[in-house]
Amino acid sequence: MNRIMSGTRPSTRPTPRPGVLDIAAYVPGKNTAPGVAKVFKLSSNETPLGPSPRAIAAYQGWADHLEEYPDGSASDLREAIGRAFGLDPNRIVCGAGSDDLLHLLAHAYLVDGDEAIHTIHGFLIYPIAALGAGAKPVVVPEKDYTADVDAILTAVTNKTRIVFIANPNNPTGTCLSFDEMKRLHRGLPPNVLLVIDAAYAEYVRHNDYEAGIELVASENVVMCRTFSKIHGLAALRLGWMFAPAHVVDAINRIRGPFNVTGPAIAAGIAAIEDVEHQQRSREHNTRWLDWLTHEISKLGLKVTPSVANFVLIHFPETKGRTAKNADAFLTARGLILRQTTAYKLPNALRMTVGSEEANRLVVAALEEFLGKS
Ligand SMILES: Cc1ncc(COP(=O)(O)O)c(C=O)c1O
Repeated sequence: MNRIMSGTRPSTRPTPRPGVLDIAAYVPGKNTAPGVAKVFKLSSNETPLGPSPRAIAAYQGWADHLEEYPDGSASDLREAIGRAFGLDPNRIVCGAGSDDLLHLLAHAYLVDGDEAIHTIHGFLIYPIAALGAGAKPVVVPEKDYTADVDAILTAVTNKTRIVFIANPNNPTGTCLSFDEMKRLHRGLPPNVLLVIDAAYAEYVRHNDYEAGIELVASENVVMCRTFSKIHGLAALRLGWMFAPAHVVDAINRIRGPFNVTGPAIAAGIAAIEDVEHQQRSREHNTRWLDWLTHEISKLGLKVTPSVANFVLIHFPETKGRTAKNADAFLTARGLILRQTTAYKLPNALRMTVGSEEANRLVVAALEEFLGKS
């Protein structure tokens, strides 16, 4: 349809492509609690340990060169990632956060009328990226807050072009085993791109989990990763994907020529090489993820077992005890969790594993909220 002539009269101003105004804009986790002196932000899955000191030093080292364009191909960073994971750097593309890459994949592989599948509690960027590319997001149910391979395969039609799957998923914290992911891949037609978003891969301890690297040997699988979580570089906006050569070629044609900044490249290299820091972050997460799951469950609230750096806490629908009530109670104490209504989980809150102080404060506040202290 001619967009100028769509509607009853010619448009009097520029109109975005169909789909764009259907997007519910992404609302990031809150970061303020008015009137509270000390705030603990546990709403964006950031690491409480911060980045590697070596990454901070590398970032600061760029301060004297801000007039220079970065290396548009981020080759030193791709090589560092390649060394860390044993990957061919030519099969890696870096982006301004993995969000950037998810959007680029949607723009490269979806046209008007195509379908992109994601699961009902899947990461919110997937429908945004699909609608932004003129495609239709197809939402499929989950089982026990976990992606359901059969439901995804049942939803595939001849219009499907992408399946987006976060593994582990945000905000549920659940993941598919490698066997299940392989079964999903086997069931997809070869012209459907399977986008495995492994933003939280570094935290997973299950030995039947695989981040997606092995499946990228196929022509229709891409794995996206981020520096925003375990590496603590969310402010710098840095992500990467590992993909078949033909996908790398397509994305390199449409990405911004300098989509990753010089300071981000420098900090990213230092971060990926600081294995000890990653290990410390993982150990902190393991200890407190288990503690939070145990302590919050003990209060009588259901916690979805998580493999990532956050927990999904379910609240009753009883007046005064709902997720909304709990959010207000916690926020008044400077404890900011993430509401999950936009993820079709109105009776839950997502809590990032924080510092020991923050974790203990949340448990104590929940105890008080539930009248158990
Ligand atoms: C599943 C998932 N994918 C991707 C991202 C985006 O990360 P980035 O900061 O790299 O854009 C997030 C961030 O919350 C996430 O939870």
